[in-house]
Amino acid sequence: MGDEQWLDIGDAGQLAQQPLQQVMIGKTKAALSYANGQFGVINGSCNHVGGPLGLGTLEGDYVTCPWHHWKFHRITGEGEPGYEADRVPRYECKVEGGRLLVRDAPASTRNRLPHAKHPLDRDLKRAPGPLRVWGLSTTIMDDAHPRYSTSEALLQSALEHAGAKHALEFRMTKLRALDFRACEGYYSKSAYACTWPCSISQVHHHDGMNEVYENLVFWADVILVATPIRWGVASSLYFKMAERLNTVQNQITLRNRVMLKDKVAGFIITGGQDNIQAVAGQMLQFFGELGLQFPQFPYIAHSRGWTAEDMERNVEIVQHSRQLHDGARALLDRCVDLAARLAVGAAPPFERAGRKAAGVERRGPPASG
Ligand code: FES
Repeated sequence: MGDEQWLDIGDAGQLAQQPLQQVMIGKTKAALSYANGQFGVINGSCNHVGGPLGLGTLEGDYVTCPWHHWKFHRITGEGEPGYEADRVPRYECKVEGGRLLVRDAPASTRNRLPHAKHPLDRDLKRAPGPLRVWGLSTTIMDDAHPRYSTSEALLQSALEHAGAKHALEFRMTKLRALDFRACEGYYSKSAYACTWPCSISQVHHHDGMNEVYENLVFWADVILVATPIRWGVASSLYFKMAERLNTVQNQITLRNRVMLKDKVAGFIITGGQDNIQAVAGQMLQFFGELGLQFPQFPYIAHSRGWTAEDMERNVEIVQHSRQLHDGARALLDRCVDLAARLAVGAAPPFERAGRKAAGVERRGPPASG
């Protein structure tokens, strides 16, 4: 190799000011580090899903990826102890005449060790069998001292109806029973940092949201979501869950992969005071973005109104309201009816989500070299 293959990266003194930075070697992003009087240069694209290593942090001799914190030795490019063979390419470098020079071709190759697949990382194919109904209760209570939940009671009526009238398999998830982490904002780093399966589930294998993903993405054909109204919006647990569903919506943005197809959602919304239409509007918007479909009249709701503060009376009304429980059953009927039509191919084969009129941006994952 001749000297012409050394590229001038810049003033060595200035480059030494930062422990880690991203530089370009031709068209390739690299992570340039400086510690203990020595430069190190490795490829800047992480082995995981292409995170920008040069924008990460330096921990000892390891470059930590800013996306999900995989580590690579800053000089050899090898993974952390135990994962050495999971490596990114390294580059030779030297200082001459106060300039940092880097070879324009890597001195080692990239190698990805096989990693065990997450259980959610599988084919989206629906398991055969009759329609399946999943109820999701998002209300919060102390189950050691349970109270009557109007939204959950109506959901229960709808689910029992799925079994009694339609002979369908059904199940209920009480969101409060799941121990799950809040979204940690991977999408805010980069759309590509928000992965499927969810980055949090990949790190915390037993995260409670896995039950939601399993039922929503793989198991259910009909999804009934029940929420109380709290301060004019759905329950806080509902929103905590919704943020974690970014992983589903983001697949549409990144890969044109609509994960929820031919699935139908309906909503049960109850509150002591009003704002039903705003809550329903938000839920319809959100689940519509995920790709769910809705029957005619996709929600039922109940509230006592602004001036009614006698909540014990509210409980009594819902407990004994034939109309409301029949309404929940009728909502289930409408959802099942639509799901049955979709199951026999009535749904048009949409190519992509229509959320953004400009279409899905196809810029592909970050390049790796
Ligand atoms: S850890 Fe680097 S992209 Fe995920």
